[in-house]
Order: sequence, then structure tokens, then C-alpha cells
Amino acid sequence: MKTLSQYLLEFERDNPEHKGLRLAIEDIAKACARISDLVGRGALVGIHGDAGETNVQGESQQQLDILSNQIMLDMLAWSGNWAGLASEEMENIYHIPARYPKGKYLCAFDPLDGSANIDINMPIGTIFSVLPYDRSDAPHNRDFLRPGSEQIAAGYALYGACTMLVLTLGHGVQRFTFDRSIGEFFLTKENIRIPDSASFSINLSNYRFWEKPMQQYIDLCLAGDQDELAKNYNMRWMGCMIADSHKALEKGGVFMYPADNRDPAKPAKLRLLYEVSPMSYLFEQAGGRATTGTENILDIIPTELHQRVPAILGSKAEVDYIEALHQAAL
Ligand code: AHG
Ligand code: MN
Ligand code: MN
Ligand code: MN
Repeated sequence: MKTLSQYLLEFERDNPEHKGLRLAIEDIAKACARISDLVGRGALVGIHGDAGETNVQGESQQQLDILSNQIMLDMLAWSGNWAGLASEEMENIYHIPARYPKGKYLCAFDPLDGSANIDINMPIGTIFSVLPYDRSDAPHNRDFLRPGSEQIAAGYALYGACTMLVLTLGHGVQRFTFDRSIGEFFLTKENIRIPDSASFSINLSNYRFWEKPMQQYIDLCLAGDQDELAKNYNMRWMGCMIADSHKALEKGGVFMYPADNRDPAKPAKLRLLYEVSPMSYLFEQAGGRATTGTENILDIIPTELHQRVPAILGSKAEVDYIEALHQAAL
């Protein structure tokens, strides 16, 4: 089996314009390996539970949110591969300390996704998005406000029964599995293609807050016998975007966190830069699609670091169908 480093080295040989990307992705993989180790120890080393702090999102932070964020910063700051970092857990971007060399990439990440799952040993993960940066001066927040179509890499680590790294460098989606005994990621699935399947993933308890087209789609899924769909749908919700969308990516169907009207200040829940955009890039690279309902996610030009957007990610046929319902309602 090929290791992640072998895969990255071969990629760099075939794509010399991406020289340097291998070391940058290796930094992230090392950080994820460390987070995976901490996740595995959990309560045994006293790192479960609330940290007593609130982040810029207005969410109370778990100890592992803060620790994972610190691991990402520590692993990426010193290597000389990165120009700046942005995280769900930090209001503004992190500047690489002056004592370290600066690299040519920006990383936006959600260090620990699915925080509510930590203490109960349910799936959690880390998501990252990589953008190129070609200036020599230090980046600002605004340098991260680039459409998802400009990403040169994206991926996530899923800390489940085993730890997986799912990665795209713009040439398909590869899945690697972490071998804890030797500390290496091995390529375990090449070129993931999202299959068609009658499966949806959504927090159905928010139904009353959604827009009409989303209610219509779910009504059709639940009825199951409608001419338009004629499928018997299955539903899953693990409460971790990475785990729920990983299932859609590998087994087919659609993952949704749609617009809702609960709070006018938050028209949607998931954050564009470090959750929805990297995941959308992976879905497109796997032959699927990603939309807000009315706009392709990768075309959105962000206006804020912590911007939230509706997310509908899935197999092409399913997302096309949901988008058509939104079009019809315009
Ligand atoms: P995070 O833990 O990084 O703040 O993200 C939580 C997100 C996402 O992982 C998941 O899809 C969603 O919140 C779950 O929301 P519900 O509470 O509505 O289930
Ligand atoms: Mn959070
Ligand atoms: Mn998250
Ligand atoms: Mn998070």
C-alpha cells in the first residue's frame, strides 16, 4: 500500500507547478495524527468537557476544540510552508510568527468538527481548505475571502473507529487510513466517485424554519411514492458535518444544512470558508455537486471570514433535483 507521502511525492513529480504542496499537506496530516491520538485518550487524560470559554461563533468551546486548534497552529506555523491561518475558533487570522519563514499557502480550518459528539465517543473530525498566496507581505483577513473554486487542496480527517484522511488536490478524491502502530497514513481508496443512492442527511427537527423548496424536497423523500422521485429514502444524522457528508460521499445521497429563519443574524449554520467550501470541493471532485439551492458554493465570493451559507452537497442527480425545486420557487 502507498503511504500519503508516496502519493504526495508522485503528485508533485507529475504536477511540478505544485511544488511545495506535499510538505504543506504533510503538516496537516501530522496535526491530524496528533489530534487523533488525543481524541483516542479523551477522558483518560482529562480533556473532555467544556473549557468555559466562548468562541467568535458564540459557541461554548470544548477543551478539545481549543487543543485541536492549538495543534493545528503549532504544526503549521513553524514549517515555513504557510503564509497565514484562519480557524473557526479565532476571530481573526493567525499571523506566522516573525521567527519562522513564510510559505506560499493559506489554510482555513475547522480544527474539531462535531464538538457536541466529543464526550460521547461519536464521530468528530478536522476540515481544511488550502488557498495559494503569492505575495511576500503578511496576509490580512481579506486575503482569505476567495471563492472556493480557487482552492488548490481540501480535505478532512474523520476520527471514527479508525482515523481517515480524505483529500483532494484537484485531481479526484483519495482516502487514506491511519495506521496508529507506525504513525503513517496509507492510501485505502483511490478516486472516490459519489454513487447515486436514495439517502438524505438533515436535521429534520428544523423543518418548520426552512424555506418552501427544502420542505417540498423532504416531503417527497418521506412520501417515497411520488412520481418524481419514486425511491424509498433512508435518513441518517450524526450531528457532525464531516461524518454525515462522508457517508454521502462514499455511499451516495445528499447532506444538507439548509437556510433557516430561526435567527435573522444567522441565515444558515455552517461556515463557508472552513466547512462548506472545502467539503464542496471534495464533492465536486468526486463527481457530485454543491449548492446553496440557488448558487454554486464554489462560485460564492466570501464577504467575511466566518460567513455562514446554506449547504446542499451530494450526488449530481439529487442536487440537480433540489436545485430545480428552488428555481421553481423563484
Ligand atoms: P462545530 O462542532 O465545528 O461547531 O460544527 C458543528 C456543526 C456540524 O458539524 C454539524 O453538521 C452541525 O453543527 C450539527 O448541528 P445540529 O446541532 O443542528 O445537529
Ligand atoms: Mn464550533
Ligand atoms: Mn464544524
Ligand atoms: Mn469546530
